[in-house]
Amino acid sequence: MKNSIKTFLKNTEKDRVARSANPAIVRASTIYFKTMQEMRQHQKKISKGKSVNYWDYGRQGSQTTMSLQRILKELEQSYDVFLTQTGFGAVALAIMSICRPGDEIVISDCVYRPTQKLTTQLLKEFNINTIWYNPNSFEDLKKKITNKTKLIYVENPGSNSFEFQDLGKIVSLAKRKNIFTAIDNTWATAYFFKPIKLGFDLSITSATKYYSGHSDVMAGTLAVSKKAYKKVWWYNHVSGYRLSADDAYLVIRGIRTLDLRMDKHQENTLKVIKWLSKQKKIVKILYPYKPSSNSYKLWKKYYSGASGLLSIIIKSKSKNSVFKFVNSLKLFGIGYSWGGYSSLAVYNDSAEMGTRRFFKLEKNHHLVRLHIGLEETNDLIEDLKQSLKFVRP
Ligand SMILES: Cc1ncc(COP(=O)(O)O)c(C=O)c1O
Repeated sequence: MKNSIKTFLKNTEKDRVARSANPAIVRASTIYFKTMQEMRQHQKKISKGKSVNYWDYGRQGSQTTMSLQRILKELEQSYDVFLTQTGFGAVALAIMSICRPGDEIVISDCVYRPTQKLTTQLLKEFNINTIWYNPNSFEDLKKKITNKTKLIYVENPGSNSFEFQDLGKIVSLAKRKNIFTAIDNTWATAYFFKPIKLGFDLSITSATKYYSGHSDVMAGTLAVSKKAYKKVWWYNHVSGYRLSADDAYLVIRGIRTLDLRMDKHQENTLKVIKWLSKQKKIVKILYPYKPSSNSYKLWKKYYSGASGLLSIIIKSKSKNSVFKFVNSLKLFGIGYSWGGYSSLAVYNDSAEMGTRRFFKLEKNHHLVRLHIGLEETNDLIEDLKQSLKFVRP
């Protein structure tokens, strides 16, 4: 009998030796061997990719990081999972494992701003060309593919602007042309959408957000297909990415309740959106799980749920009054990152969005990103209500 993922997350990775409910935090650089022969035999096993219970050196991790990898492999339904010190580290690990001088990366024009910088600035120095496509147009993506395209990189939904793409079509196109595919799946997590199962080769998640869930750790995960595994393994091996045992433990502790938190974020967000959509000062809500949105059909086709991050577009001639709206929120903190237990708000001007080619805000439209946390929704709505009063037309 195969348990549901909800049960799996509660039931897995107990410490059978210490008889404790959670794995131990094993911090190690040196790992001892009884003899040189034992050491060499173990190294041989590792180099052949055989399953081992400990590594030969701490840079590869410890029992704690192995525990987290096993949990994520099941959750992501992937061939393997690599761990990085930040979510952005997982973005870099994915791209740098695949792209080489002379290659082209075709990337959606709605990716997280540091990802835009990595491709346009760093990759350029390695003679790797970045080509942007309109995330609202599959035809545009098709047109941008050349015989040099090595990787199609998607973030779905788009950072802050929430464009939603036909992911199945992208995967089929890439497979026909033997191109690698990567997706930043931080918004949904593998709880609501499993990219590797759909056919992506690389799936990035900032574990800083929902996987850890408590705003107290930074970590990244990169789930891979069999096809991408060797390339990522090699780059990881020569570049020294790793996650500490302490941070891996915090992610394990958070991920046990991922299902409960994600379901609650979704429930709370839908309640708040219901109220937001009745407010005249808010001209648009960017969130895929909204029957009136353009992306609803695609969201329903590929995702089993939606998280707590959305954007609202406020119409006002006074930017200061929109700032005042954000500043006057008492329960929503002002700050970066998201996916923790609490609600957040942040005003995004064009500098925050990076250089976008296919997304423009209309005049007097202001984008505020909200993260809906696990608080009581009536309290959140009251808070939004009292601060929205400060927005002038
Ligand atoms: C979509 C997305 N991907 C990746 C990252 C990077 O994650 P981290 O902050 O853990 O480096 C972020 C951070 O905000 C993000 O929003």
